[in-house]
Amino acid sequence: MSQSGGNKSAGNQSGENEKLWGGRFSQSTDELVEKLNASIDVDKRLYDSDIEGSIAHLKMMAEVSIITRDEADILIKGLGQVKARIENNEMQFLASLEDIHMHIENELGKVCGDVAQKLHTGRSRNDQIALDVRIYLKKETRIIIDLLAGFQRSLVRMAQSHPDVIMPGYTHLQRAQPVLFAHHLMAYYEMVKRDIQRFEDCLKRIDVMPLGAAALAGTTYPLDREFTREVLAFSAVSDNSIDSVSDRDFVMEFISHAAIAMIHFSRLSEELILWSSSEFSFITISDAFTTGSSIMPQKKNPDVAELVRGKTGRVVGNLVSILTLMKSLPMAYNKDMQEDKEPLFDTVDTLKICADVYTRMFKNIEVHKDRMLDACTQGFLNATDLADYLVSKGLPFRKAHAVSGRAVAYAVNQKKELHDLTLEEFKELSELIGPDVYSFITLDKMISRRISYGGTSFDNVRQAVKKAAGELGLQ
Ligand code: ARG
Repeated sequence: MSQSGGNKSAGNQSGENEKLWGGRFSQSTDELVEKLNASIDVDKRLYDSDIEGSIAHLKMMAEVSIITRDEADILIKGLGQVKARIENNEMQFLASLEDIHMHIENELGKVCGDVAQKLHTGRSRNDQIALDVRIYLKKETRIIIDLLAGFQRSLVRMAQSHPDVIMPGYTHLQRAQPVLFAHHLMAYYEMVKRDIQRFEDCLKRIDVMPLGAAALAGTTYPLDREFTREVLAFSAVSDNSIDSVSDRDFVMEFISHAAIAMIHFSRLSEELILWSSSEFSFITISDAFTTGSSIMPQKKNPDVAELVRGKTGRVVGNLVSILTLMKSLPMAYNKDMQEDKEPLFDTVDTLKICADVYTRMFKNIEVHKDRMLDACTQGFLNATDLADYLVSKGLPFRKAHAVSGRAVAYAVNQKKELHDLTLEEFKELSELIGPDVYSFITLDKMISRRISYGGTSFDNVRQAVKKAAGELGLQ
């Protein structure tokens, strides 16, 4: 490629464009640099945010007479045409035009002529990109909050339709104590509730308008930033021009909240995978959300859950990427920051599809109540309650624990469960045990007695589900 010919854009097929920043350059950009520098393949999705921001900027400039109303009207109309061209796939994307800002400005020039050169007055791509990402992320965060609330609805619906299903609760993946299946589901409701709270809180910091910071120092033009804020419906204007263009805290925060949300989905995925195995058989996921094997005809694989678990790795990776990207950047804008978009967009896409698919999949899960119940009758899930029984007869808890432990050891030896021991056998273990022990250690009683606030008693869980349904506007 020619090293002369000034700042002609090497890859530009129309050949008519010089670099918009080409004034101080006498050589054209190296082809490879053009490729490295171009972000258009990634940032083109910001086109509508970019246009929205430019329209607000034009309105403001007309308001404070930096440009005339007529000029603003022509350019705003032109931006509408550019938008239509993009949406109708009529606009060519070129590496030589670097990013979405340049593409739109260049296209505006084709639509409106020379007046388009006034658009970038009092503005830099540094504050422009900060604005675009904030406009984009505000919308996406709201969509994600809605999707998460949709998933909460699926959880609550399932809890409502299985009010008395009892399953083994686990610690260390060993059967521990019986719990209500609805209670287990509501644990996820709480996790997702915190996810939503985190995103709502993060929205406050996304919802800050940076335009007007220009390159880093502010601008000599009499911009009315408050006016721009108002047009774009932001809650606040950023206070420091250097911070405005260098801050990506809101991106780091967003991805970090998304990573936590994905980890919740991943933990749930792990449980669904276990529960749908023949070893557990607690649930069946419908055909629409499972896949078969190309070799083993009997297989019905929980791919959705596996993919969600797998995709969690991407989002955690995205978090590491953005943190590493930002960690040594001096003030203010650095081109490194162009690399923030891939992890951000991938995080948004991944979390959205996972939340959405889980909401749908949950409506298509069959719960095997008898299998869950069966699993509760083996593995000494009533050992704690035997100790509690002895406490009710006056034994201190530590002693009661020891007696119950001996009972378990004895039962293991006899290949029996605690509730299968005869009264004589119980009496051998402790004189305090009477015939009422059998009704004390039934599953129903074990559930009913766990009335401490937040515990798994029928009443508690019914109330928790009702409260959640109220929060979500469900019946
Ligand atoms: N495309 C850039 C980004 O995504 C914004 C442009 C800032 N570039 C510049 N040369 N000042 O961060």
